[in-house]
Amino acid sequence: MKTNPKYIVFDGMDGSGKGTQMKLLQETFGDSVVFTREPGGTPFAEEIRTLALDNPLAGKSTPLNNFLLFMAAREELQQNLVVPALRSGKHVFSDRGDSSTYAFQLHGEEHEELLDVFTCTRELVFAEGNGRRQPDRYIVFDLPAHVARERALRDPRRVQNRFDLRNLNYYERVQTGFRKFAQHYPVVFVDAMQSREDVHRSVKEILAKEFAA
Ligand code: TYD
Repeated sequence: MKTNPKYIVFDGMDGSGKGTQMKLLQETFGDSVVFTREPGGTPFAEEIRTLALDNPLAGKSTPLNNFLLFMAAREELQQNLVVPALRSGKHVFSDRGDSSTYAFQLHGEEHEELLDVFTCTRELVFAEGNGRRQPDRYIVFDLPAHVARERALRDPRRVQNRFDLRNLNYYERVQTGFRKFAQHYPVVFVDAMQSREDVHRSVKEILAKEFAA
């Protein structure tokens, strides 16, 4: 049991190598950390994930509705996984988080008019005082947009959801989204052009500092 458990989000463009790094982190930290993902992580949130990512009807709905699906999954994850895990003294490492909503829905999809609703719903989901809190740190895997896209398209394990196969401009907007997010929230970028071992080493150094804080 940790006296000061941390809530860390890992994020990046599709093709950033995030999946590989999450696997390495699982091997390194094992059961001492609760690993989860967004959207998803609890049975109900996984249902929302299927709706948001795989159901073609979601693509025909409104930008606000799609945004709310990601937030709804996040609200569920907070209440039923993040808060209990932190309370039990475990660190929580999440594969994606609200940084993705900011980068993909507001910037990739070009709906910056959702900024106010983002700020407001984010505050509610992470409202302190009932055991919730915002992530202590966002670790974002960063690399040129065209490299991320090429890697994503080449990855045979990638299950193609309706967010894959976007054009280069989309990837560039998502990257801009992560950069803008970092102006407001505690983000550390990791150079994802390094070898997987060096990326992993960089992540462990960031985490060591975070755990010591
Ligand atoms: P990811 O978790 O990387 O899974 P996979 O390996 O199956 O692609 O991708 C989930 C997709 O969901 C990714 O394209 C980004 C998108 N997403 C959003 O658009 N908004 C969000 O808030 C989140 C959490 C994810």
